[in-house]
Amino acid sequence: MADKAHLEHLAESIQQAVVSYDPSNPSSWMPIQDAMEKLRRATEPPAIFVMKQRFHVHVPFLRDWEITNRSTKTVQNICLVAALEMGLLQTLAARKGENVTASDLAQASGYDEVLIARIMRLMTAIGFADETGYQTYTANPVTICQSEPGSIGGMILSNEMTYPLASKIREYLRQNKPCDMTQTPPPYDFAMGETVWETLTKNPVWKKGFDDSMTARNKTLSIPWHVKFPVQERLAERQLTTPPVIVDIGGSQGVDLERFVQHFPDLECELILQDLPETLERIPGPLDSKVKPIAYDFFKEQKVHGADIYYLKSVLHDWDDVSSQKILSNTAKTMKPHSRLLINEIVLADTNEALIRTDMDMLMLLLCNGMERTKTQWTELLAKVEPPLKIVEV
Ligand SMILES: C[S@@+](CC[C@H](N)C(=O)[O-])C[C@H]1O[C@@H](n2cnc3c(N)ncnc32)[C@H](O)[C@@H]1O
Repeated sequence: MADKAHLEHLAESIQQAVVSYDPSNPSSWMPIQDAMEKLRRATEPPAIFVMKQRFHVHVPFLRDWEITNRSTKTVQNICLVAALEMGLLQTLAARKGENVTASDLAQASGYDEVLIARIMRLMTAIGFADETGYQTYTANPVTICQSEPGSIGGMILSNEMTYPLASKIREYLRQNKPCDMTQTPPPYDFAMGETVWETLTKNPVWKKGFDDSMTARNKTLSIPWHVKFPVQERLAERQLTTPPVIVDIGGSQGVDLERFVQHFPDLECELILQDLPETLERIPGPLDSKVKPIAYDFFKEQKVHGADIYYLKSVLHDWDDVSSQKILSNTAKTMKPHSRLLINEIVLADTNEALIRTDMDMLMLLLCNGMERTKTQWTELLAKVEPPLKIVEV
């Protein structure tokens, strides 16, 4: 059994995290959840802990074996994608505030009413809608969020790109026996016969899901880069003779540059959005006139020389050190003394890192031999770039 004093200490940590909670900081929820997770684990008997991992149980409280055995996260995610494919959550979201029956959903979707009622029983049990009466549902904030294009795309990708790896990981390890990951293709390539990037180029639905989910994530979950880095002050430090140039390399649909323009509407500047042509061609809606999309492969020579800021967000975590060095080198070669390179990425803690970031690290490994890095790993990577780079501040 857990030591009571230890549990009290963990409970206090939750209280402290709640006191420090700042609603204006999109990552402020993380310390609270980390603290709750520590208390949850400390109270869980090891046998239950091991079993829950095996079944990926979503429900936080085990009432009986039946619930545990049935409620696997894999099954939940398959049904969630089914609910999205059938348009069930989207219909509820569109009719927010109304009570919608399984019969209404059957009429709207054309699918079997009993099938809908069964899927919705699971959806409401895992919190993706509320059940207000017998086979009657209403949208909650999670229904609305999951019905956004970025969340739909992200959910579908999460299933369809990672589940095939589950059935191949043992074969992958036996056949490849990785002893140097830079020489070993990632598990995704082994399972699918092509790289993630090749799949995304070939499959426009997945590609759109990927790009939409990047945009949604940046809009809702990340602190804007120009808030983390005092960009206006830094630009003001040098005597500008021409409007500053900012290049977002691998900037996807341009959400970070758009947010920058919205924050500084009067700042005269040139904002260059670089990404693959298939990304730029599918940007939904017009970009602000200050944002200029230019197709660019970051493994080739950077054509924009001497920009004030080169910005790389969540790009290097997709690549191993060898590829990352090439991307960085193509940028470093074009930098002038006034140029700054901003890398917006996770810096992993040396010990006891939070689950969400360690999950992301392993996802990157499985999909593309990418990695999240500790400060030491970032420093080593930057020092190996030609010409070498060094961290000025974190
Ligand atoms: C993980 S996403 C990050 C997107 C964006 N910076 C963000 O934080 O939301 C990686 C981006 O790199 C782009 N990308 C992949 N390979 C590329 C290449 N060879 N040249 C340019 N962009 C590439 C992808 O299209 C995608 O938009």
